[in-house]
Amino acid sequence: MKKIAVFASGNGSNFQAIIDEIEKGGLVAEIAALVTDNPACFAVERAQHHNIPVFSVVPKNYSSKEEYEKDIAFFLIEKNVSLIVLAGYMRLIGNVLLSAFYNRIINIHPALLPAFPGKNSIQQAYQYGVKIFGVTVHYVDAGIDTGKIIAQECFKADGTETLQEIERKIHCIEYQLYSKVIKQIL
Ligand code: GRF
Repeated sequence: MKKIAVFASGNGSNFQAIIDEIEKGGLVAEIAALVTDNPACFAVERAQHHNIPVFSVVPKNYSSKEEYEKDIAFFLIEKNVSLIVLAGYMRLIGNVLLSAFYNRIINIHPALLPAFPGKNSIQQAYQYGVKIFGVTVHYVDAGIDTGKIIAQECFKADGTETLQEIERKIHCIEYQLYSKVIKQIL
C-alpha cells in the first residue's frame, strides 16, 4: 500500500478528512506519519486518536532550515513515503525536501490560485467582494502557493452569505477534493 505523510501545524480538519476517507475505504493509502512543527496543535491529538505516528520537529532545535528538513527527509525516506501532503502546514518548504521529494509534495489552498495566495485568503477574497470562491490543490515549489495547479473547484456566492458561511462551504469542498486528488496521484 502506498504511504503518505501529512504535514500540519494547526487544527488538522483536512488531515481528519483524509483519515476518514481512508477508514471508509474511499482512499487506499496508509498515513505513515503526521509531521508537525507545532507539537501542541490539535492535529497531533487527531493522529494519536487514530494511532498514526507523530513526527514533531521544532525548528528552533535545529541550527538551520536545511538541518531541520534533513531530519524530516531521512525519516520519510526510511518510512518509504511516496507523497507529502501539506494540510495547514504553516512553513515554506525548502530545497532539501523539494529535491528529496521532487514533484511529490502537494498543498491545498482555500482560494482559486493564483488569486489570494498566503494567509487569510478566504477573508481577503470575501472583503474583496469576489463572486466565485474556491479551492486549489497544487504541487509545492519554493514560493508561497505558486506551484503548478492540479485541481480546482469553485462555487458561486449569492452575495448574502456571511464570511462564516463561505468558510464552511470552502472547507466542505476541501475535505472532498483533497482525498480525490491524493487518490489520483497515488
Ligand atoms: C485549510 O483551509 C487549508 O486550505 C489551508 O489551511 C487550512 C488548514 O485547516 N492550507 P485545517 O488545519 O486542515 O483545519
